[in-house]
Amino acid sequence: MNYESVLAGLPDAVIAVDTELRVVFWNAAAEVLTERSARRAEGRYVKEIFSPEASVVRRLGETLATGESRSEAESFVERGDGRRVPVSIVTAPLCGRDGQVEAAVVVLRDLSRIRQLEAEVRRGETLAAAGRMAVGLAHEVRNPLGAIRGAVQLLKRELGADPRLGEYTDVLLTEVDRVNRIIEMLLDLARPVQLRPVPLNLHQLLERVTMLTEEGARERGVALIRRYDPSLPPILGDEDRLLQVFHNLVRNALDAMGSGGRLTLTTRVSLNPLFGKMDLGAGQRSMVEAQVADEGAGIPANVRARIFDPFFTTKDRGLGLGLAICHRILEEHRGAIQVESAEGRGTTVTCFLPIAR
Ligand SMILES: Nc1ncnc2c1ncn2[C@@H]1O[C@H](COP(=O)(O)OP(=O)(O)O)[C@@H](O)[C@H]1O
Ligand SMILES: [Mg+2]
Repeated sequence: MNYESVLAGLPDAVIAVDTELRVVFWNAAAEVLTERSARRAEGRYVKEIFSPEASVVRRLGETLATGESRSEAESFVERGDGRRVPVSIVTAPLCGRDGQVEAAVVVLRDLSRIRQLEAEVRRGETLAAAGRMAVGLAHEVRNPLGAIRGAVQLLKRELGADPRLGEYTDVLLTEVDRVNRIIEMLLDLARPVQLRPVPLNLHQLLERVTMLTEEGARERGVALIRRYDPSLPPILGDEDRLLQVFHNLVRNALDAMGSGGRLTLTTRVSLNPLFGKMDLGAGQRSMVEAQVADEGAGIPANVRARIFDPFFTTKDRGLGLGLAICHRILEEHRGAIQVESAEGRGTTVTCFLPIAR
């Protein structure tokens, strides 16, 4: 049996050090986790690779000194570029025939995927709670609103042609409609919708979205750029729901570009980022990618984790439901949504959608 190939195949990072804390073994998962090759790690002191105060280094030191195992359920390792990866740590001594400690091993398990899934689950729970509240509220508010709207319409007719009074009734109607739209959005988030996926031409769908926003874009001095893949296969999706998604994303992009810029719509076929992740139900290997990229303000780092939360908004008249709804709809399509943003330079939102076969 070749133990090295067994260790190489493990999903957890395995690192062994000698009594001087010099690396003597570094498996493939350790290379991936630390973004450092075995060739560059073996023979060096662990404290040169990680910082001397790093938990891994401390725990290995303790194990060598005491001959006892050490563990930490939640720690992190720092990569060369300073990025921190959450890990769990377990160390064990390796003893020679005479019982003397000759080396120590540490097993590091990458927790970032788990953390990500936990965040997704939490997001789902918040959405569900928001949804239940919304349904209750919406039903209570919808009927009186309907009555108000009806009464205002009657009033408008009674008041006749007086332009000043007409202005008042128009404000009433506009605002009632706004509240109604808010309620519709809340219900959208709450309703367990029945998707009606059919083969769709994504470009036609995007064109319908841009038709509605073209004027708003022009007013802001935003140029619309299309980078459509002409050989894009049809997607499998629910037309109304996807219109909602891209409408929200384009709206957000325009909101972010107060002083003009380019709004780029890109489509292409690409590899599913979640393919093979058994915990997410795999899906198709290749998917259609639709990108909405702006050159707006970008999303500050301290805000980024919350943009999918329902009711999170940084806008005066924002509702904070747009991205929560997008997330939900893409999830229902067994697709995915990803956001990349650079402050001051812009934001790119990528949607992954299934191909119709
Ligand atoms: N393209 C974008 N550029 C910059 N910030 C964005 C962009 N899209 C979303 N955001 C941020 O995410 C927040 C939530 O977005 P969303 O859920 O659509 O709600 P709303 O648009 O009502 O604020 C926004 O308030 C904004 O801070
Ligand atoms: Mg929005």
